[in-house]
Amino acid sequence: MAKPNENEPPPDPTALKTVTYGSYLRIDELLALQAPRSTGPEHDELLFIIIHQVYELWFKEVLHELDYARRLLEEGESYRVQHTFKRILTILKVLVAQLDILETMTPLEFLSFRERLEAASGFQSDQFRQLEFTLGMKSPGVVQRFPPDSRGRAALEQRYREATLWDAFLRYLAREGYAVPAEVLTRDVTTPIQPSDALQQMLMDVYRRDPKNAELCERLVDLDEGMQEWRYRHVKMVERTIGTKPGSGGSEGATYLRGTLARPLFPDLWAIRGRL
Ligand code: HEM
Repeated sequence: MAKPNENEPPPDPTALKTVTYGSYLRIDELLALQAPRSTGPEHDELLFIIIHQVYELWFKEVLHELDYARRLLEEGESYRVQHTFKRILTILKVLVAQLDILETMTPLEFLSFRERLEAASGFQSDQFRQLEFTLGMKSPGVVQRFPPDSRGRAALEQRYREATLWDAFLRYLAREGYAVPAEVLTRDVTTPIQPSDALQQMLMDVYRRDPKNAELCERLVDLDEGMQEWRYRHVKMVERTIGTKPGSGGSEGATYLRGTLARPLFPDLWAIRGRL
C-alpha cells in the first residue's frame, strides 16, 4: 500500500460533503436576524436583541424536553425522566444566570433605545406562556391575548387543552400503584392546579417509603424553585433598570411582576414539607 506523502496537504474533508457548519446551522440566516431599531444604532440594543433571542431558543428547547418528559412518564420510564429533568434544570440555571449579562446594561443605556421598543415586551412571549401552561399555570385569558391564526395562538390553544407535567406525573404514580385520589386524576386539565389534602397524604407516603419516586418529586420542586428564581431575578433586574416606571407591555412594571412571585407550580409538594 502506498504511504501517504508527508509533504502533501491532508485531503480537504469538505471536498465531497455538501453539509457544512454554516449550511447546517443556517448561520447566514441566524446572523441576519438581529435588526436594531435605534438610530446609530445605540450600542446596547444588539445585546438586548441577542439575549431575548437566546431566551426564546432555550424556551423552545425546554418545551421540547418537557414534552419528552411527559411522554417518558406515560411510558413509566422513571430513570430516563430523571435524566431529562436534570437537563431541563441545567438549562434553567443558564436562563437565570443570563440575567447577569443584561444587568451590565445601565438605566441610561437602556433608555437610549427603549422608546423604539414601542409596546414590545416579554409579556408577549408565547413560548413563556407555553412553558407556564405545560407546568400547570393555565389561563384562557392568556390565549385570547394572541392574534387568531398566529403561530403562538395555535401553540397555546393546543397546550391549553393538553395534560400538564403534573397530571402526567400523577398518572405515572397511579400506574406505579399509588392510590391517587380520583378527583385529582380526572381533574379538568385546563384549570389551574389546586392543592389537595388527600393527595398530600399520598405524597407523604411516597417520601417516606419510595426513594425512587421521592427523587422525582424533588426534581419537580427544583423545577418549581428554578422558575420562581427566574421571576425573582427578572423583577430585580427590572427594578434596577426602570425603577417604578410602567412596562412597555402596558403593565405597572415591577409592581405587576412582584405579584407573580411566590406562586408555586406544584403547591402539594411544598405543603407536605411542613407535614412530614
Ligand atoms: C432591560 C431588560 C428588561 C426589562 C426592563 C424588562 C421589563 C419587563 C416588564 C416591565 C414586564 C412586565 C410586563 C410589561 O408591562 O412589559 C416584563 C415581563 C416579562 N419579561 Fe421582561 N424585561 C427585561 C428583560 C427580559 C428578558 C431578557 C426576558 C427573557 C425572555 C424577559 C421576559 C419577560 C417575560 C416572560 C415577562 C412576562 C412575565 C409575567 O407576565 O409573569 N424580560 N418585563
